[in-house]
Amino acid sequence: MRILGIESSCDETAAAIVEASSDKKDSRRLSFSVLSSVVASQVETHAKTGGVVPEVAARAHLEAIIPVIQQSICEAGFQSVPPIDAIAVTSGPGLVTSLRVGVDTARLLSYAWKKPLVAVNHLEGHVYANWLENFKKIEFPILVLIVSGGHTELVLMRKHLDYQIIGATRDDAAGEAFDKVAKLLKLAYPGGPAVSRLATNGNPLAIKFPRPMIDSDDFDFSFAGLKTAVLYHAKKIINLTPKIKADICASFEQAAVEVLVKKTIRAANKFKVKTVLLGGGVSANTHLRRELELACQKLRFNYRSPEIKFTGDNAAMIAAAGAVHALANDFISWQKIDVNPNLSL
Ligand code: KG4
Ligand code: ZN
Repeated sequence: MRILGIESSCDETAAAIVEASSDKKDSRRLSFSVLSSVVASQVETHAKTGGVVPEVAARAHLEAIIPVIQQSICEAGFQSVPPIDAIAVTSGPGLVTSLRVGVDTARLLSYAWKKPLVAVNHLEGHVYANWLENFKKIEFPILVLIVSGGHTELVLMRKHLDYQIIGATRDDAAGEAFDKVAKLLKLAYPGGPAVSRLATNGNPLAIKFPRPMIDSDDFDFSFAGLKTAVLYHAKKIINLTPKIKADICASFEQAAVEVLVKKTIRAANKFKVKTVLLGGGVSANTHLRRELELACQKLRFNYRSPEIKFTGDNAAMIAAAGAVHALANDFISWQKIDVNPNLSL
């Protein structure tokens, strides 16, 4: 089965063509081959304002979407009407005007090309980014730690497309905390990569920042207090030299990663999962990837994280999740599909 994926939930316009197949003996075993994956990033535009302005993002999506789809078709080796079986598009969560561009383009193509349509939750895209590599070794039950700019969730999966949220952030998302720390230290935009880059030159033990909710009985998170602690600490320092900033970044990153890893491992033990997966933009963070991997190795959980190129928003992950829906015959008509900015798993 060949799927065209379309993603426009925030500030990346993306299209991809992915070939999906399921094992004849075991239909839960899926394999994906990415024929093309094109991402047009709006980072340079939003860097000027230090954040995403929804109206500006929507206009940029409108300009980019057709060329990006065209390029994904071309790079997959096809012509104007590609030989695909379905079109998968992100219908939420995200910015409503950004989502609208992808969904309206997908429904138009579905109508014009007479191809079935699949609505995909952006977060399940981040989950299925893990299947774009190492697909054979992913065994259920699975625990996924989703860490992005808008979400921090622990999700239990007993089978494909079956999501039970067992924990979530009560305030800021992990990526949001990285972005806010970058802003208060006047680092480059986007903040997460800037903080983690600078952290590599710093001492993670220099400042003992709080580890909010690390020992709470539930699997929820809270990052607002940690961000505020960084703010108060930075405010006390008159001259924020690069070395001091590096120590702040490393100590902040250490605190955030410790909480994420500890709670994920506790949940993995409690729910007796076989595999732990990581997903979302923050899964590009080297320290988080390494620490979670080490913790999983110690307790013999299988551990997978997406290839770096599939950690941020992309359409290959949307096509992969869309293929799983399509294999389960879960389609939606172009008349019925709608956007939902607050869609949950
Ligand atoms: O998944 P994503 O691309 O967009 C959303 O769905 O939100 O995630 C973006 C988030 C941003 O907050 C960004 O700063 C963060 O992921 N991020 C990182 C790193 N790379 C991206 N955070 C920490 N370390 C990184 N290396
Ligand atoms: Zn995302």
